[in-house]
Amino acid sequence: MKLRPFTDKDIPLFKKWLAKPHVAKWYERPGDWIHEINNRHGEFGFITHLIAEVDGAAIGFGQFYDMFYGQRYEDCRKIEAPGESFCIDYLIGEPKYLRKGYGKELVSLLTKQAFACGARRVFGQADPGNIASRKALEANGYVSDGEDYVKEEKICQQKNKSQQACTVMSSGTP
Ligand SMILES: CC(C)(COP(=O)(O)OP(=O)(O)OC[C@H]1O[C@@H](n2cnc3c(N)ncnc32)[C@H](O)[C@@H]1OP(=O)(O)O)[C@@H](O)C(=O)NCCC(=O)NCCS
Repeated sequence: MKLRPFTDKDIPLFKKWLAKPHVAKWYERPGDWIHEINNRHGEFGFITHLIAEVDGAAIGFGQFYDMFYGQRYEDCRKIEAPGESFCIDYLIGEPKYLRKGYGKELVSLLTKQAFACGARRVFGQADPGNIASRKALEANGYVSDGEDYVKEEKICQQKNKSQQACTVMSSGTP
């Protein structure tokens, strides 16, 4: 799997994915997601929007952002300073790619990317009934704090931070 930047050409695909029943169940306000995407070079420029590709095919969407800048848009925990707490969101849009391990891989890549971009901890927000999302987070070392899932940065990641690049990453195919 590879992550690449979201472009205008991806908007129709993103809208199609938001309308899929398995996505719409959890992404209840598609208009908000589309508004953010449409304003990703302006008001929502603090969010990194990405497309997940497998063998050149776009199969999903992911994003991460510093919650310090995101907190004014959602009813979430208070974040005191930038550069500490990041959040990830993700979906596998193409049904034929579900339940093949790609969700876990997408969470893994987004998490690495957020740490490489300065996060000290990364949050994932999964509805209690969203078993697939919870399992994808747990498989990547996220732990529930009762409210959200969180993964803390490891000491070795802190040491290596200056050598890491905040660029879009890819992994080997599963
Ligand atoms: C959440 C999501 C990304 C998971 O993607 P996926 O590629 O199907 O997940 P994976 O194949 O990596 O499986 C992850 C785990 O969940 C399990 N799982 C996947 N789909 C499941 C389902 N419908 N019911 C129960 N368990 C499921 C898998 O068996 C696996 O468990 P394991 O760790 O015990 O092996 C995908 O279901 C999705 O896009 N859902 C809609 C959008 C969404 O909910 N996004 C997250 C919002 S917080």
